[in-house]
Amino acid sequence: MKNILLAGGAGYIGSHTAVELLESGYDVIIADNYSNSCPEAIKRVEEITGKSVKAYEVDIKDTAKLEKIFMENDIDAVIHFAGLKAVGESTQKPILYYRNNIDTTLSLLECMKKYNVNNIIFSSSATVYGEENPVPYTEEMNRGTCTNPYGWTKVMMEQILEDAAKADDKLSVVLLRYFNPIGAHESGRIGEDPQGIPNNLMPYVSQVAVGRREQLTIFGNDYDTPDGTCRRDYIHVVDLAKGHVKAIEYVLENDGVEVFNLGTGTPYSVTEIVSTFEKVNDIKVNHVYGARRAGDLPESYANADKALSVLGWKTEKNLADMCRDTWNWQKNNPNGYKN
Ligand code: NAD
Ligand code: UD1
Repeated sequence: MKNILLAGGAGYIGSHTAVELLESGYDVIIADNYSNSCPEAIKRVEEITGKSVKAYEVDIKDTAKLEKIFMENDIDAVIHFAGLKAVGESTQKPILYYRNNIDTTLSLLECMKKYNVNNIIFSSSATVYGEENPVPYTEEMNRGTCTNPYGWTKVMMEQILEDAAKADDKLSVVLLRYFNPIGAHESGRIGEDPQGIPNNLMPYVSQVAVGRREQLTIFGNDYDTPDGTCRRDYIHVVDLAKGHVKAIEYVLENDGVEVFNLGTGTPYSVTEIVSTFEKVNDIKVNHVYGARRAGDLPESYANADKALSVLGWKTEKNLADMCRDTWNWQKNNPNGYKN
C-alpha cells in the first residue's frame, strides 16, 4: 500500500482527489491548516469511501511541525495543493501570497529531501501561460507574463521545482496545469465552498441559483469571441481528481520533470455556462451584463493531447454533468460545510 501525503488536501480539489486515491487503493494522509477549508470535508471523504484518512492540522510553512508528519509516516509521494488562490486578494496582499505559496513549497521540498521522499505532484495553473501564448495551450510553450501575484507564485514554484529536480537525479516532479475546475462529487457530499463572495464563475452562479446572491454580473460581452463573452476550458473536478491518480502512477515510476495540462480542450463561454446551468437544473440564474474584469483573457483552453498519450487520461464528464453536480452540491449544502 502506497502512502500519499496531500498538502492542502482538505480543500476543494484535494478532497476530491483524496476520494479517487482511496478508491484506487492508496492510503491518504492530509496536512492542512484549514485556512480555506474545514475538517468536515475530510469526514465526508471518509463517509463516501468507507476508508479512514490520517489528518494533521499544520501550517505547511512551519518546517519543524511538517517534519513530524514525515517522521511518523512512510510517505511515497506528495501532492502539493496547499496555497492561497484568490487572484484579486493576491494583488492586495502580495507578500502574504508569496510567503504562503513559496514557503509551503520550500518546506515540503526540505522535508522530502531529509526523509528521502522523491516524488511530488504540484497544483499549477493555466495562468502560467500568461498573456502572450495563443490558444490552445501546449505544454512546451514558454511560461508567459502573469497579470497578478497569484499567477507569479505558480510560475515561481514551477521554476523552484524544476531547479530542485535538476540538482537531484532521484527527484521526480509532475507539474499539473489545471484549467477551470468546477462541479462536485456526484454524492453531493463534497464540493467547492468559497469563503465570502466567490471570485470564480461557477460558485457565483450556484449561489445566485440558491438565493445567497441576488444576481450574477457577466464581465464583458464585447470580446472577440463567438457570443462576445469569455471562453474557458471548464473541467469536472472528479475528472481532474482522476488525473491525479494517473499522475501518481507516473511520478512513482519516472524521474525528472514532466508537465501536463489537465483540461478538456473544449472552451465554453460564460453565457453557455449560465444557459446550460439553467437548462439542466431547470432553475433561473438572474444575470446582467457588466464591464470587463481587469486581467481577463478572452479565451483560455488546453490542448489535452499529452495527458492522453503519456498518462492515458482524458475527461469523461460533459458540461451538463458539471452543472448538474454543482447544483446537487449547492442545493444540498446551501451554506457549504456550515450546515
Ligand atoms: P482550496 O483553497 O480549496 O485548497 C487549498 C488548501 O490549502 C485549503 O484547504 C487551505 O486550507 C490549504 N492551505 C493553504 N495554505 C496552507 C498552509 N500554509 N498550510 C497548510 N494548508 C494550507 O483550493 P483548491 O481549489 O482546492 O486549489 C488547490 C490548488 O490548486 C491550489 O494550489 C490552487 O492554487 C491550485 N489551482 C486551483 C484552481 C481552481 O480553480 N480551483 C485552478 C488552478 C490551480
Ligand atoms: C481565474 C484566475 C486564474 C485562476 C482561476 C482559478 C483571473 C484573471 N484568473 O481564472 O488565475 O487560476 O481563476 O482560481 O482572475 N466571470 C463572470 N462573472 C463572475 C465571475 C467570473 O462573468 O462573477 C467570468 C470571467 O470574466 C471569466 C469566466 O467567468 O471570463 C471564468 O472566471 P473565473 O471562474 O474567475 O476563472 P478565470 O478567470 O478563468
